[in-house]
Amino acid sequence: MVEPLKNSDIQALAEPDKEAKQRSRLLVDRIRHACDDAGGWIPFSEFMNIALYEPGLGYYSGGLQKFGQKGDFITAPEVSAFFGQCLAKQLNEILRSMRNTCEDVSVIEFGAGSGVLAVDILLALEKLQALPKKYFILELSAELQQRQQQTIRRQAAHLFDRVEWLSQLPSEMSGVVVIANEVLDAMPVECFRVSDDAGHAVETLMIAVEDENIVSKYLPTDRQLAEKIDLIQQRSELVLAGGYRSELNLSVEGWLCAIEKVSDRAVILLIDYGYNETEYYHPDRVNGTLMCYYQHKAHGDFSWWPGLQDITAFVNFTDVAYHAVDIDMQVTGYTTQAAFLLANGLSELHAEQVTDDIQQQVTLSQQIKTLTLPSEMGDRFKVMALTKNYDEPLRGFSMLDLRNRL
Ligand SMILES: C[S@@+](CC[C@H](N)C(=O)[O-])C[C@H]1O[C@@H](n2cnc3c(N)ncnc32)[C@H](O)[C@@H]1O
Repeated sequence: MVEPLKNSDIQALAEPDKEAKQRSRLLVDRIRHACDDAGGWIPFSEFMNIALYEPGLGYYSGGLQKFGQKGDFITAPEVSAFFGQCLAKQLNEILRSMRNTCEDVSVIEFGAGSGVLAVDILLALEKLQALPKKYFILELSAELQQRQQQTIRRQAAHLFDRVEWLSQLPSEMSGVVVIANEVLDAMPVECFRVSDDAGHAVETLMIAVEDENIVSKYLPTDRQLAEKIDLIQQRSELVLAGGYRSELNLSVEGWLCAIEKVSDRAVILLIDYGYNETEYYHPDRVNGTLMCYYQHKAHGDFSWWPGLQDITAFVNFTDVAYHAVDIDMQVTGYTTQAAFLLANGLSELHAEQVTDDIQQQVTLSQQIKTLTLPSEMGDRFKVMALTKNYDEPLRGFSMLDLRNRL
């Protein structure tokens, strides 16, 4: 867990080196161009998109370390191979069932990070004799694609040929299992505020560049966003008070539609930190969920050296579920990461690795704690399964069904 810094403690962040600052300045220049093209101000989502994904300069597209102890944050596959091994058990069940009716079943991992999850899943599926013909990785960042290739060559060289990198979805798939671990939280979001005025109008956060600095202000929002926030308040019986600030992911709908459109049968497994809608927009969460990560320190200042830090927002799983239902997909499961991993044999996998090496045992126990304890990743991270033409129960959701909380 990373304790958020107060914004007044922002100076506690280590000063980036000269070269990194120079890269950030180039990125700020790109943001300035985007603002000029737009006539002055761009929505926060456009700023976030450039800050994270601008080719060669964005946080995910540049050469920074990002993942693991030496990077800025640690994701579940970086914590332990158990995570991928449990996911493989879930995949094994789905692949075997789909193969009965589909001539061709693919696995697609979105945003594969360092490539370590792909390695763990492939090695575990090999053991289970359930390897798919192709394991596709759809990765936006060319730099990460290279890193993933190195990881797979180093740790599972004999399976390298099974992996294929995609820059977009195939045009048709008879059966597909999608894995997206911490992908939705890395999608650009809109930031909004409810104004203090009597009418409580919704305002959107807009970004510009002044001198070399990122500046922001709230402007009256467009109709689409205002209507969406009205809809959320109605369906969740919430009233957002004047001054309330939060985020909205408008990209997830198109992302889901694109997968649904090209597949005859699909299971989408989403793993991410997030809440249901009433928790997400809880009256006490007045400053939203947006967070920035740099060298394992969390803070709220998105304007700090763009391109050198991660920017992320929690996932509103209720909204994801509504979008799925709108396109006739089923919400087949929603549970905590802890319950999903335990239902997929985490304890048994741990037991298989018992050795006399005390140090090794402590390390493995620590990994299990990080993945499952409520105070760590266990509860904050949720797993959601969305399905199309797939009616079998999914073992990962057999222990705890939280769909009634959505
Ligand atoms: C927080 S990292 C998680 C990496 C990895 N899944 C892990 O668990 O270690 C977010 C990843 O999502 C990717 N990403 C974000 N939006 C995406 C999209 N629309 N399609 C594919 N990848 C995306 C980023 O490029 C990045 O690799």
